[in-house]
Amino acid sequence: MSTLTKRILYTISIILFLTSFTVMLYYGYKTFYIKNEPTTSENYTYHFALIAEETENDYWRLIEQGAREAAKENDIFLEYVAPKRADNEHMLRLFDRLIAAKVDGIITQGVEGEQFVDLVHKAVERGIPVITIDTDVKSSERNAYVGTDNFYAGRLAGRTIIENTMGKQYIGIVTGRLDAINQQQRIEGLKEEIASHPRIQIVDTKESNITRIGATQATYELLKKHPEINVLVGTSSLDGIGMVKGLEEIAPNKEVYITAFDVLPRTLDLIRSNKIDATIAQYPIEMGNKSVKVMIELQEQVLLNNEIFTETRILGKDDVLQSSGATR
Ligand code: BGC
Repeated sequence: MSTLTKRILYTISIILFLTSFTVMLYYGYKTFYIKNEPTTSENYTYHFALIAEETENDYWRLIEQGAREAAKENDIFLEYVAPKRADNEHMLRLFDRLIAAKVDGIITQGVEGEQFVDLVHKAVERGIPVITIDTDVKSSERNAYVGTDNFYAGRLAGRTIIENTMGKQYIGIVTGRLDAINQQQRIEGLKEEIASHPRIQIVDTKESNITRIGATQATYELLKKHPEINVLVGTSSLDGIGMVKGLEEIAPNKEVYITAFDVLPRTLDLIRSNKIDATIAQYPIEMGNKSVKVMIELQEQVLLNNEIFTETRILGKDDVLQSSGATR
């Protein structure tokens, strides 16, 4: 090999080496470099946590939406946490973890039982304000409640039945979870409202586990066991949708008066198509939004009015046809 050839080969090798080295450095940087941003909470005035009943539930996502809007406007770092599927034990563990993480405020659905009351005590004792949202636990030291007056909401469900039916009515209730305080309060409200109307009575109650499929199954079982049922009441947001399906499966031609809960788009569609007669509207976006604003106030002062009820009302077909913005 001549000296010239050797030089050329040598130069090519160096070029090849340098090129691959540069490429390696570039992609290595892209793959392994982690942007050294300051921790998120340093950019915000406060760090709040919102504990929902379950992550992908449409109703809780609306609460989150409202909370995020208020958080953005006020430079709050908002953490949304929840069990994948409704599970009180898991929720309580999340609650405990957030207390240990020393967040500035915890907004959480109220959970039945001593453990929840103890955790609220622990948080408040450590200077972390707690707001119950959607479901209250009055016996706890929570600093405030933001959400529906659930007893009153149950009364409204009763009122729709009283006003829109005649003769003997046999009610089958599909409820989210038997151990959820808000579901119990709604059923209590319903009972109280119909108490002075002996033509209306509750026949049986079944759980949906706050899923659409659970509500379908519950409806099927209710009607199979009690064919006399001619009113169905759903007390959580996916119950109405599931009840319609369950009724179609077991008694498609039966005339049943159906009252649902909440204003998820599918429920409103079913009202428009006469499959659901009425629904009790809650305002989850407003709930989420308000809860963050109240939590900001709680950072500086004690609230005089710590029971903040958001609006609740009956929506029938005419109301649904008239308004499009019902989901706030
Ligand atoms: C209730 C929530 C529940 C949700 C289930 C709503 O009506 O207020 O507590 O988590 O339904 O989808």
